[in-house]
Amino acid sequence: MIKLYIDNWEIHATEGISVLQAALDSEIYIPNLCWVREMTDPPASCRLCFVEIAGRPAPVTACTTIVENDMEVHTDTEAVRELQRTSLKLLLSAHHVDCGHCPANKKCELQNLARFLKVKLKPAEFPTYQPTGLIDTSHPHLDYNRDRCVLCGRCVNACRDKNGRPLFTFAGRGSETIVTPLFPPAGQALDKDASLVCVDLCPTGALTRKG
Ligand code: SF4
Ligand code: FES
Repeated sequence: MIKLYIDNWEIHATEGISVLQAALDSEIYIPNLCWVREMTDPPASCRLCFVEIAGRPAPVTACTTIVENDMEVHTDTEAVRELQRTSLKLLLSAHHVDCGHCPANKKCELQNLARFLKVKLKPAEFPTYQPTGLIDTSHPHLDYNRDRCVLCGRCVNACRDKNGRPLFTFAGRGSETIVTPLFPPAGQALDKDASLVCVDLCPTGALTRKG
């Protein structure tokens, strides 16, 4: 076991796990979105999980930093919160805030993050997202709504890890990026339960079950 300190609490963690997992396992919350427990190769794309570590020159992402003996981690400094707020505002600026019409309302992880970090769902610093109206209904078991997607990549990365093969991929570039389903070769069945794992992993209402 590794012994480290998070916000001055002594924590014991299994060797090889991330600072993010060690903190969450000890009920110390660090904002996060693109990471999912047991993920093999975190993409660190949401940039929400910044922490400061004594002796390191700049904040680091907790999901990609492995615990070390006697490490001193600080999750609640002004620098960390400022970085986290900026990251959340960027995510929100690529998302159509329409909570009243969204099935994830009141259970959406974006709403929880905004509440925790005291960020408005429509931050004034960034241009308001212009909805595309794009809804991909090509999948037999779920629908994808681009305007609710924050491109966190859980349905691409974590869903692949949980199912042993990719079920979604990113397509397009820049502001035109979307996620799109990957279908099995002709003649092979599409596993409904595996597909619905992706719906459950989506932190917003972007993926919804059909029917
Ligand atoms: S569909 Fe959901 S899980 Fe997939 S990238 Fe968009 S927000 Fe993330
Ligand atoms: S949870 Fe670490 S960068 Fe997204």
